[in-house]
Amino acid sequence: MLVLGIETTCDETAAAVVRRRRGGSGEIVSNVVLSQAAHAAYGGVVPEIAARAHVEMLDLVIAKAMVEAELSFSALDGIAAAAGPGLIGGVIVGLTTAKAIALVAEKPLIAVNHLEAHALTARLTDQTPFPYLLFLASGGHTQIVAVREVGDYVQLGTTRDDALGEAFDKAAKLLGLAYPGGPEVELEAARGEAKRFALPRPMMGRPEPDFSLSGLKTALRLEAEKIAPLSEQDVADLCAAFQDAVLDIVTDRLRAGLRVFQEHFGHPTALVIAGGVAANQEIRAAISGMASELCTPLVAPPGSLCTDNGAIIAWAGAERLARGLTDTLDTSPRARWPLQHAAPLAPPPAAEPTALPTTEMPSLQSSDTAPPQGTESHS
Ligand code: KG4
Ligand code: ZN
Repeated sequence: MLVLGIETTCDETAAAVVRRRRGGSGEIVSNVVLSQAAHAAYGGVVPEIAARAHVEMLDLVIAKAMVEAELSFSALDGIAAAAGPGLIGGVIVGLTTAKAIALVAEKPLIAVNHLEAHALTARLTDQTPFPYLLFLASGGHTQIVAVREVGDYVQLGTTRDDALGEAFDKAAKLLGLAYPGGPEVELEAARGEAKRFALPRPMMGRPEPDFSLSGLKTALRLEAEKIAPLSEQDVADLCAAFQDAVLDIVTDRLRAGLRVFQEHFGHPTALVIAGGVAANQEIRAAISGMASELCTPLVAPPGSLCTDNGAIIAWAGAERLARGLTDTLDTSPRARWPLQHAAPLAPPPAAEPTALPTTEMPSLQSSDTAPPQGTESHS
């Protein structure tokens, strides 16, 4: 099965063709990502500029993906686009383009949840079986999720304020580094002395696997203000201290997430990391150490598939199409689209806190992520 995937939810204009074989393995046939450079001057993504750039570049990016795949639209089995969540102008551009191709080429449309695409990437790269524990950390989202099937996600924890990538971006901005901040902070941290500053680790030790990052960001700002003006070494040391705190927070929160997962679903097949922040080598190494301590295999897709791209959209589209999940041409673009309904997790079963058949867990929160046909009722 061959699926074209289109990604335009933020500042990457991207298209890719992915093959999904009958047994469930996948292969990237082509993958074209154009990162919009115009936003760097503003220290963040400007939605209107992003949407206009998607309009200007998307046709070319799709054409390049098709040429590199040496395919015509008629050879495809489906057209997938990220239908949200994201900046609505960009989402409209990508979804409308996908609808036009689907209509003209007479192919099924698959409206993909961008978060679901990150959640399923491990199945493209490693054929990871369900159920697995997902740590999704991007610019807009920080979630610990039980992934039980395509379309069946249970959120175990999330952030109470900033997303992790957002915290990296804000830290970078306050230290005068470029956008996006994550890679810049990682680079600076590599030559910094983390122990020079004692930054807080909010939420550490708490049983619920949630995050809170605004206190860490404020503490970083206060330390920076104390020693301003900052030398290059000051910036590196502050970045190192910030990243060090993040490593402690992330590993502690994932330990809590794993405990909650085991209470409800037994042992996961793997711990999977996804989203732009998962491209950070130090974070990957820290999670890898923690996972092997806990005898849980770690699946960490390459950094280029952790940040936004069309291949993960195409793959999620293929996973849905293989299960007969397609969408009609009146499907709405969605600025907000949670991976699952937000509701508290039910208490674990009292007697035997081991794996239960999923059918016996109706009170746990899960949902199909198929977008409603022209309504916003899932938001
Ligand atoms: O998944 P993604 O490409 O786009 C969203 O859906 O948000 O994630 C982008 C986020 C940005 O906040 C960026 O600063 C962060 O991921 N990021 C990183 C690294 N590379 C990207 N954060 C920390 N370290 C990195 N190396
Ligand atoms: Zn993303």
